[in-house]
Amino acid sequence: MALLWRRLKLVVMVTMVNLFIFIIISRQSSQDKNGHHKVHIPSKPFWTKLVPNIAYWNRQQQILDIQNNPILVSNYSGAEIPEWLNDTSLTSDPCQPNFRVTTQVKDYNSLPGRFKDFLIYMHCRSYPIMVDHPDICKEPPFLLLAVKSLAPHFDRRQAIRQSWGRAGVIANRTVVTIFLLGNATAGDHHPDLSEMLHYENFRHKDIIQWDYRDSFFNLTVKEVLFLEWIQTRCPGARFIFKGDDDVFVNTYRILDFLKGLSEPKARDLFVGDVITNAGPHRDKKVKYFIPESMYTGTYPPYAGGGGYLYSGDIAARLHNVSQHVALYPIDDVYTGMCFRKLGLAPEKHKGFRTFNIEEKYRSNPCAYKSLMLVHPRTPQEMIQIWAWLSSPDLNCQ
Ligand SMILES: *[C@@H]1O[C@H](CO)[C@@H](O)[C@H](O)[C@H]1NC(C)=O
Ligand SMILES: *[C@@H]1O[C@H](CO)[C@@H](O)[C@H](O)[C@H]1NC(C)=O
Ligand SMILES: *[C@@H]1O[C@H](CO)[C@@H](O)[C@H](O)[C@H]1NC(C)=O
Ligand SMILES: *[C@@H]1O[C@H](CO)[C@@H](O)[C@H](O)[C@H]1NC(C)=O
Ligand SMILES: *[C@@H]1O[C@H](CO)[C@@H](O)[C@H](O)[C@H]1NC(C)=O
Ligand SMILES: *[C@@H]1O[C@H](CO)[C@@H](O)[C@H](O)[C@H]1NC(C)=O
Repeated sequence: MALLWRRLKLVVMVTMVNLFIFIIISRQSSQDKNGHHKVHIPSKPFWTKLVPNIAYWNRQQQILDIQNNPILVSNYSGAEIPEWLNDTSLTSDPCQPNFRVTTQVKDYNSLPGRFKDFLIYMHCRSYPIMVDHPDICKEPPFLLLAVKSLAPHFDRRQAIRQSWGRAGVIANRTVVTIFLLGNATAGDHHPDLSEMLHYENFRHKDIIQWDYRDSFFNLTVKEVLFLEWIQTRCPGARFIFKGDDDVFVNTYRILDFLKGLSEPKARDLFVGDVITNAGPHRDKKVKYFIPESMYTGTYPPYAGGGGYLYSGDIAARLHNVSQHVALYPIDDVYTGMCFRKLGLAPEKHKGFRTFNIEEKYRSNPCAYKSLMLVHPRTPQEMIQIWAWLSSPDLNCQ
C-alpha cells in the first residue's frame, strides 16, 4: 500500500513538472506568434559589393575602411583589387603633393583655391614640430587648456594668460595652458612675426608650433598633431579643454564640474555645444561651404569648435581612431566623425555658449557664474569677466 502511494506521488509529480514545462514552451511559442522573440532574417546579405562613392572624401574613407577591416582585406587579395580601391597615393609618401586629385575630383579646376590646397595635401598628417616644451606636463595636470591661436594674436594669448588660462593651481587643481600654432606664412601675406613669437615663447614657455601653413582648412591638421602631442607629451592629463582664442572660459566652473563627476562618467567625458542633424553647406558664399564632389551625406553629432571638454582617456582613443578617418577640412566636424567611429556621441551641455548669451545679460557678472564657455569675447572682456568671477564680493543668488 505504502509502495503504491509513493508511486502515485511520483506519477503526480512528474505530470506536474511536464505540465509546467508544457506551459512555458507554449507561452514562448505564443510569444513567437506575436512576434516578440522572433528572429529577424535580413532580406539583403550583410556584405554588399562596394561601389565607389562619387565624393572624394567618402571614397578615401571607403579605402581606409577596407584597409583597416581584416575581413575585407583578406577578401581583396592580389589581382582582384578594383582599381579605385588600389589608390597608391595612400601608400607612397603621403606628404608629397598628390596631383592625382586634379583628375580624381571631377570639378577640381572650378573649386576655390582652399579646396585645391586641401586636396593636394589631404593625406599628410605629420609636420615637423618647431617649438615644443617636452617637460610641460612633467607633473601631469588635472586640466590641460589647449588654445588654438594664430601667430599675430599676441593680445588674445596674453589676455588668456592673465585671466581664464592662468596656469598653476586653481581651486586646488593643477592647470597647464598651451597655445597651438602653425606657421603664419609669407605666402598668405602674413608679416614676419617670428622674432616676437620667439620672445613671447621665451617669456611664457607655453607655445607649441608646427611647421605647416596655419589656415582655416588646416585646422584639422592642428587637431591630429595635437592628439599626437598629447600622447607623447601629456598622456597623464586627466582632462583636456580645447578651444579658440576668442572665447571666455569659466575655469572655476569647469573645475567644479569635473570634480563632481563619477568615475565612469569622467572616463568617457566629451561635452560641448553639440550640433546634431547638420550637413555640409552647399552655398558657395558660406565659410563652411563643401562641394558635392568632396562630401556626401550628413554630419555626425559634433561639438562646436569654439571649445569642448574631454577626458585624457578619450584623447587616447581619439588619437587611435583618427588614423582611420580621412582628414576633413572642418576640424570640429572631423572630431565628430572620429567620435562616431568610436561608437560614442558627444554630450550637449547648456554651459557651453558658442553662440553667445542674450545681449541684456552680457554685462551682468552673475550671468557668467554658472557658464563654462561664452563666444566671442575680446581680450579686454576676458580680463573684465575674470575679475568679476574672481572677486570675493561677487554675490549671486
Ligand atoms: C568575399 O569572398 C567570397 C568568396 O570569394 C564572396 O562570396 C564574397 O562576396 C566576398 N565578399 C566581398 C565583400 O567581396
Ligand atoms: C595596384 O597598384 C600597384 C601600383 O600602381 C600595381 O603595381 C598593382 O598591379 C595594382 N593592382 C591592381 C590589382 O590593380
Ligand atoms: C586638494 O586636492 C588634493 C587632491 O588633489 C586633496 O587631497 C586635498 O584634500 C585638497 N585640499 C583641499 C583644501 O581641498
Ligand atoms: C614659416 O614661415 C616663415 C614665413 O613665411 C618662413 O620663413 C619659414 O621658413 C617657415 N618655416 C619655418 C620652419 O619657420
Ligand atoms: C596645409 O599645410 C600644408 C603644409 O604647410 C600646405 O602645403 C597646404 O597648402 C595647407 N592646406 C591648406 C588648405 O591651407
Ligand atoms: C591605441 O592603439 C595602441 C596600438 O594599437 C594600443 O596599444 C592602445 O591600447 C590603444 N589605446 C586606446 C586607448 O585605445
